[in-house]
Amino acid sequence: MRVLVTGGAGYIGSVVAAQLVSAGHEVTVLDDLSTGHADAVPAGAVFVKGTLRDCAAEVLADGTDAVLHFAAKSLVGESVAEPAKYWSANLGGTLALLDAMREIGVRTIVFSSTAAVYGEPERTPVTETDPARPTSPYGASKLAVDTTLTEFARLYGFGAVSLRYFNVAGAAQASDGTWLGERHRPETHLIPAVLASAAAGSTVKIFGDDYDTPDGTCVRDYIHVADLADAHLRALAACQPGRHRIYNLGNGAGFSVREVIDVCADVTGAAIGTDVTARRPGDPATLVASSERIQAELGWRAAAGLRDMVTDAWAFTKARQQT
Ligand code: UFG
Repeated sequence: MRVLVTGGAGYIGSVVAAQLVSAGHEVTVLDDLSTGHADAVPAGAVFVKGTLRDCAAEVLADGTDAVLHFAAKSLVGESVAEPAKYWSANLGGTLALLDAMREIGVRTIVFSSTAAVYGEPERTPVTETDPARPTSPYGASKLAVDTTLTEFARLYGFGAVSLRYFNVAGAAQASDGTWLGERHRPETHLIPAVLASAAAGSTVKIFGDDYDTPDGTCVRDYIHVADLADAHLRALAACQPGRHRIYNLGNGAGFSVREVIDVCADVTGAAIGTDVTARRPGDPATLVASSERIQAELGWRAAAGLRDMVTDAWAFTKARQQT
């Protein structure tokens, strides 16, 4: 299949692009490099630097069969500070892509949605039928795209799948051995931040230890980026004209911030100092997914556990230090 991967120079997009190339698909990556890295585009994929608004139509016209759409802004905190940026990039950019797809006749899309659409969930684990009440412009902009996809399936026969990721972690190797992992600046995500502290001998901040959770720190559901990539390939194969399906993606198990730090200390062998600070605005106490729907319908299962994620993220951190 000839596939367009938007945002394929970013963390998750690059890992999925690498798996697509390995599976024999013809892959074009479109990325404006606002947060991505050209050297993360896997060997074997064609790279086009540009925005969705400027370049999607031209790239799609090249015989594209399907789109995997990752290009987005993805920081909850930043979205609260700069909401217009999120509506413009995440909804505006996606509408430009969807319009171009409609005009050219490409109607198959797998979309990177997020657990942030659920906001502060009423119950755990969260299922796809639970109320979506985002508490940030990031989550709201992603939910708006999910709604748009439902409409485009109904009105224009799009075959769409939205994958609502919980906390993605870990790293993966492309077929040439290159490690692909998280490289955000600044790094706000827990596991890479803790590993950076382990490498630098600095202290990790814990954002609040007075939550209603077993040890008082926030509980999250971590999923390995390679398992997530596998779900994308299954979703791509499952797209059906006129249908929009939504799946949660997590491991179904929650780990607290302190538990994650303990695993990082164990894997790295470093003593990791912690400093408890105020809560980070917008953080729900607990976010754990029910992934039963994707297991039942697409036969997907998470293969990796938290320790695997930390081990691979650490291998990536060390590989980066050597370059
Ligand atoms: N945390 C710390 N210290 C840090 C970094 C994070 O204590 O230095 C805590 C956070 O407060 C939170 C937990 O670790 O309780 C996980 O934080 P992350 O930033 O790693 O992840 P989030 O749960 O905030 O967000 C992630 C994605 C979002 C997505 C969300 C949905 O980044 O895009 O999961 O679950 F919307």
